[in-house]
Amino acid sequence: MLIKNIKSLVGILPKDKLRLCGEEMNHLETINNAYLLIEKGLIKDFGKMAQCPNYDGQVVDATGKMALPSFCDSHTHIVFAGSRETEFLDKINGLSYEEIAKRGGGILNSAKRLHNTSEDELYEQALKRLKMVIGFGTGAIEIKSGYGLSTEDELKMLRVIKRLSDRMPVKIRATFLGAHAFPQEYKNGREDEYISLICDEMLPKIAEQKLADFVDVFCDKGFFTVEQTAKILSAAQQYGMRGKIHANELDFSGGVQVGVAHNALSVDHLEASGENEIKALKGSQTMPTGLPGCSFFLNIPYAPLKKMIESGLPVALATDFNPGSTPSGNMKMVLSLACIKMKLTPAQAINAATINGAYALGISNHYGSITKGKAANIFITKEIPSIEYIPYSYTEPIVDTVIINGEIFNH
Ligand code: NIG
Ligand code: FE
Repeated sequence: MLIKNIKSLVGILPKDKLRLCGEEMNHLETINNAYLLIEKGLIKDFGKMAQCPNYDGQVVDATGKMALPSFCDSHTHIVFAGSRETEFLDKINGLSYEEIAKRGGGILNSAKRLHNTSEDELYEQALKRLKMVIGFGTGAIEIKSGYGLSTEDELKMLRVIKRLSDRMPVKIRATFLGAHAFPQEYKNGREDEYISLICDEMLPKIAEQKLADFVDVFCDKGFFTVEQTAKILSAAQQYGMRGKIHANELDFSGGVQVGVAHNALSVDHLEASGENEIKALKGSQTMPTGLPGCSFFLNIPYAPLKKMIESGLPVALATDFNPGSTPSGNMKMVLSLACIKMKLTPAQAINAATINGAYALGISNHYGSITKGKAANIFITKEIPSIEYIPYSYTEPIVDTVIINGEIFNH
């Protein structure tokens, strides 16, 4: 496929740039009036229209439109059963996320629903969401388990993720989140037994069946402690599974520090973070990841991503699409929130949502930028005046054409 007359081809990077840190994040390499050539699903070549080769295959004319690397959404929970809008009403009436969880709502509510939903039905629901977010421009995505909370139901969720991955052309990476919440029967004294269940039964089975790439723990006040998190991260390391953890959403939990100490691939949320967390992240291989949709929906503080960038750190942005704290998988909305609420520039936000998201998925050698040899996962915008217009027009759909592995995706 040849895409010609691209008004701006945005997000070009050299092959060896696997993440962008600090000041680098404010630059988006762009070619105006460009072409892009795709062969066998990969980016073969690109450049100025003046150098555009003759081509007799499929040609897409992008006059007036821009082309960007697909979003890499490195944190989602899109496999879930039903929805939780009754809790939405509870929140409007003044209850906090933690209070709802304490009353048996929240994650346990979703776990109950998931238990009572067949694997096929779960798959159909998740497939619909996945197609929707691909239409929003997402070309690679992480999906977590964590609404099973028993060996059987965690495996069920992970099998659904595998099925999505086998069926859909986008890149999917799976994360095992058995430590999302303590099941009711393990609360009040039997918590250690649940940690053992995760480490001694769930993890070995999941590793044997090759159902997860990463492991996650909700390390936060009222959920899992630093010690419990350390145990699970160590156990997972034996199977080559790095951590991508929920850290510091509700409190200064020590989650960032324990994540970095175990060489986690990412630490996500970070709403309760300051100088100590920044210090811990400096010099590490761990990607701090912000989820501004969660802050927006729960009315909690936004993670200090701007400060992190100013300190020289890389940052990624993801949706956190889930039924409780973030019922939205729209990466463009995430860009808008990052710019409006976190004061990132559009360039910083786009880099955070593409190359750095790919890094947080462990796939930035093949996704996340316009680079020769990388997967041709890109989207072409409608006719828009500038790159800044994308986060600025915060509800207008701007995606015109989605291309995944070099093919136009029709949902
Ligand atoms: O990332 N914080 C923990 N987990 C999810 C919410 C899960 C839920 O409420 O269902 C999150 O926000
Ligand atoms: Fe999450």
